[in-house]
Amino acid sequence: MKAKAKANTNIALIKYWGKRDNELILPMNSSISITLDGFYTITSVEFKEDLKNDIFILNNKETEDKEQKKISKFLDIVRELSKVKLYAEVNSENKVPTAAGFASSASGFAALACASSKAAGLSLSERELSMLARRGSGSACRSIFGGYVKWEKGEKLEGTDSHGVRLLSEKDWDISILSVMVASGKKKVSSREGMKRTVETSPFYSGWLDTVEKDIKIAEEAIRLKDFYSLGNIAEENALKMHATMLGAKPPVLYWEHGTLEVMGHIQNLRESGIPAFFTIDAGANVKVLCLKENENMVYESLLKLSSVMKVLVCHPGSGVSYLE
Ligand code: DP6
Repeated sequence: MKAKAKANTNIALIKYWGKRDNELILPMNSSISITLDGFYTITSVEFKEDLKNDIFILNNKETEDKEQKKISKFLDIVRELSKVKLYAEVNSENKVPTAAGFASSASGFAALACASSKAAGLSLSERELSMLARRGSGSACRSIFGGYVKWEKGEKLEGTDSHGVRLLSEKDWDISILSVMVASGKKKVSSREGMKRTVETSPFYSGWLDTVEKDIKIAEEAIRLKDFYSLGNIAEENALKMHATMLGAKPPVLYWEHGTLEVMGHIQNLRESGIPAFFTIDAGANVKVLCLKENENMVYESLLKLSSVMKVLVCHPGSGVSYLE
C-alpha cells in the first residue's frame, strides 16, 4: 500500500481563471499550458494500519493544520474511490522554489494523485488521474501530461469531461521559458481567492468569457503549426486580459509590482528590435518569458541587466508524471 510519483509544474499560456463549481474544481473556461522540466514534486504515500490520522511531511518538516487538512480532504476522495479505510503518511519533496512564482500546487497535486491512487490499489488511466489531480488544484490536472496540454473545461455537472489532454509532446517542440523573479513583497491574494472575487464582482469578467475560447483556438492552431510568434502573441494578450478582469474586481486584485512592469517593457522593446520574445504573468509579481532557443542566451543576459530582476531560471518543455516505485 505504498507508492511514489514525480510530477513537473506547468505554466499556462491561456489561463484558467474562474470556477463554475468550487467544490469539484470545474473551470469556467478551457486553458492551455506547457509542462516544464526542472521544477517538480516527488511524493510518496503509504496507507498504514496503525495511523490515527493522515500525516503530511513537506521537505522533511511536518506541515501546519491548514496544509494537513487540504491533503486529508484529497485523500478522502481516494479513500472513497478505492474503499480503503486507512490513514496515510504522505512525504513530499518540493523542487519548485516558492519564490519562482510557479504554482507548486500543480506539481504537488499531480504527484499526490498518482502516488495515492496507486498506493490505494487503483489503476487509473491518465485521464482519470487528471480528473483526480484537478480535485486538489485545477492547474494540477494539466501536469499529468508532458509537453503542451489543454484542460478541456467540459460541460457535465459532475465533471467527468473536465480533464487534461496532450496537444504535443515535450519532444515535439522545444522552446525556452524563462522564469524572471523580481523584487516583490509577499503575495497577498491567492489565485483561488483572486479568481473567485473576479467571477463574483468584476464587470469585465463577461468580456473574458466572451473571448477566451477564441484565444484557445488560436493557441491550439499555433501549437499544431509550431508557430512561435502566434503562440507567444496570444499568450501575452491572454495574460494581460486575465489581469484586466481582476483590476475590475471589488476590492481590486493587483499582482504587478515595479519589477513586473520593467520586465514587460523590456520584452516589448526586445520585440521591437526584432527578437521574438513574449511574456505571461500568473497570480503574482514574477514574469515568465517565452523565446526561441536560438535567442535564449541573449534574452537571459538582457533580463539579468534589469535593476529589479533578482534571478532568471531557464526551463524547457518537460515530461508528464512518472512512478518511481
Ligand atoms: C493564474 O490551479 O492554483 O496560475 O484550482 O483554486 O487551486 P485552484 O487554482 P490554481 O490556479 C491557477 C491560476 C493561474 C492560471 C493557470 O495556471 O491556468
